[in-house]
Amino acid sequence: MKTIKDFKLESKRVIIRVDFNVPIKDGVILDDNRIVMSIDTIKYAMDNGGRVILLSHLGRVKSEEDRLKNDLSIVVPRLSSLLGTDVKFCEYTRGSVLEGMVASLKDGEVLLVQNTRYEDLNGKLESGCDLELGKYWASLGDIFINDAFGTAHRSHASNVGIARNLPSGIGFLMQKELSVLESVRDNPKRPYTVILGGAKVSDKIGVISALANKADYILIGGGMCYTFLYSLGYNIGKSLLDSDSIDYCKDLMNKYRDKIILPVDNIVSSEISDNSKCELTNIDSIPSNKMGLDIGPRSIELFESYIDKSKMVVWNGTMGFSEIKNFEVGTKSLLEYLSKSKCDTIICGGDTASSAINFGYKDSFMHISTGGGASLELLEGKVLPGLEIIEK
Ligand code: 3PG
Repeated sequence: MKTIKDFKLESKRVIIRVDFNVPIKDGVILDDNRIVMSIDTIKYAMDNGGRVILLSHLGRVKSEEDRLKNDLSIVVPRLSSLLGTDVKFCEYTRGSVLEGMVASLKDGEVLLVQNTRYEDLNGKLESGCDLELGKYWASLGDIFINDAFGTAHRSHASNVGIARNLPSGIGFLMQKELSVLESVRDNPKRPYTVILGGAKVSDKIGVISALANKADYILIGGGMCYTFLYSLGYNIGKSLLDSDSIDYCKDLMNKYRDKIILPVDNIVSSEISDNSKCELTNIDSIPSNKMGLDIGPRSIELFESYIDKSKMVVWNGTMGFSEIKNFEVGTKSLLEYLSKSKCDTIICGGDTASSAINFGYKDSFMHISTGGGASLELLEGKVLPGLEIIEK
């Protein structure tokens, strides 16, 4: 596959698709890892005289409220300071203002374009990979570099759509992710354990059967464990339930009962807040009016016993609401344990990566991936459309 180094960039308009879909709370970027990791590629393009045009999505934009919440200009100060230059920002995703800003870019300058998903308000043009939109964005550049690993599992106008229309390659972030994750996919050290959690239940439930074939153990915590527990007949109270996936979970438990390990206790509460009253219960005693929000100490010990047996661990999805103090213990304890263990560990997924970095384990693991769904789909053996188009 071509990389940015295979192109002559001088005085060329270089479109780089980055993934600046960073977690934001009250107008503050909670974790800038995705921005930091994209710097090498952007700097290389600047230093080699490219006129750099950056495209990224931020969040999912389905309403006017989403649009206001997901204004990409929020990343400009951090990006400018990391690059040591003033990054220009265009608030439009198309039109004469954008075209004028691109035309006036000088060699080595950087322009960030507004959230590509603003185009979703216009009939899902970005997420639907609209042909005209891909062609239009491609017309703004001479070369396309895809460095948005986190988005490589999506077939959207700003990755696949542009790559269809321009000479294309990948950047350094993408190269690094592929070299680490493809070697785990093809030849994992064994025993190989996958830890899954987080709240995006339906997004992840589909990959479990594929991973169950490849991994030796799958430890499931976080919001997604409750659909499994429910499928086994437990009363899960008000915990997260993905009702469309109950039969699927039941089948998986029948097929992989020895491989899939579920929590045995948990922290429950009636609300998700720092001030909520919490209670530790066994998994078979969740009160009907409460929800499970973190794994409990016996589950932590159980999961640690599987880490002890493993040589390779891939972890995607936190064990509880780790951004809230009351529910951070499960995630924090396993991070601590893994940081001291001898097994190779890969952390993936925005929330898990943020927790690892914010709890002080940034340099403790073999790799912290910028991808969530993209890493899982690659590990399960799926072809990622954002890369396939470039390989072709
Ligand atoms: C991610 O955070 O997983 C990527 O940025 C893709 O975002 P999406 O799940 O909204 O497509």
